[in-house]
Amino acid sequence: MELPTIWIRFIVTGGVTGILGDLQKLEASIQTSPQFLGLQATSFGRCAYLSVPRSQMSAAAKPVLRVAGISGSIREASWHRGLIRAAAEICEDSIPGLRVDDLDIADLPMLNTDLETDGGRGFPPTVEAFRAKVRDVDCFLFASPEYNYSITSPLKNALDWASRGVNCWADKPGAIVCAGANFGGGRSSYHLRQVGVLLDIHFINKPELFVFSFYEPGKFFDGDGNLIDAETRERLKKVLLSLQAFTLRLQKKD
Ligand SMILES: Cc1cc2nc3c(=O)[nH]c(=O)nc-3n(C[C@H](O)[C@H](O)[C@H](O)COP(=O)(O)O)c2cc1C
Repeated sequence: MELPTIWIRFIVTGGVTGILGDLQKLEASIQTSPQFLGLQATSFGRCAYLSVPRSQMSAAAKPVLRVAGISGSIREASWHRGLIRAAAEICEDSIPGLRVDDLDIADLPMLNTDLETDGGRGFPPTVEAFRAKVRDVDCFLFASPEYNYSITSPLKNALDWASRGVNCWADKPGAIVCAGANFGGGRSSYHLRQVGVLLDIHFINKPELFVFSFYEPGKFFDGDGNLIDAETRERLKKVLLSLQAFTLRLQKKD
């Protein structure tokens, strides 16, 4: 059902032209922003109005959920880093209320509990910074390559670092996307789900996204690892929408 429009009325004492011009500028600048509210400026007699469709207001009123996009591959032209980039673009273009930020795991040292201080409560600065970002977000999008039927060592290292002391992953939702050979990287997805049991990450079950990219070079990703297949982008969008809905449900904000 289309909800009615809210009208914001500006009563002007001087000429209406000036304020209408300002409102039209505001309308134009908002319409070019990713969080477009659907504003319209108009005037009747000595009044200027800014109208806001109520349906757009409720979409905009949703909290912006922050997603940490974590690629298990740290190589430059990685398909999985490409999946995280594509997810960020999709959110910016067409999913109001969801924002993906790349959370890099490349600089984390190899886990060694000798590096911990303060009785296990202190960590090296890069680890502290990583842990803070994990704690700070609402949910996770893992792009997880399959290495020898499992997750990659950089990803396991990152998962382990943020599990030490106070587990930073706990009670947050996550989604997994993969690319690879004959299972599209899917075995890593199932191993990651298993690790997530102890870490207390709540993974969405559906939809799953396994990209069978190995045997069709150039179809899904370009040479820089950018996701170029429109159908896969659409499937990735469905994963993101499912993650958004599940996160809102868990946070009881919807
Ligand atoms: C050590 C290693 C093990 C791999 N094992 C598998 C595997 O078990 N299954 C698979 O589908 N691909 C496997 N691959 C191929 C990766 O899926 C492929 O390199 C993929 O591009 C990695 O993702 P990226 O492009 O994001 O780096 C392996 C690659 C490496 C380097």
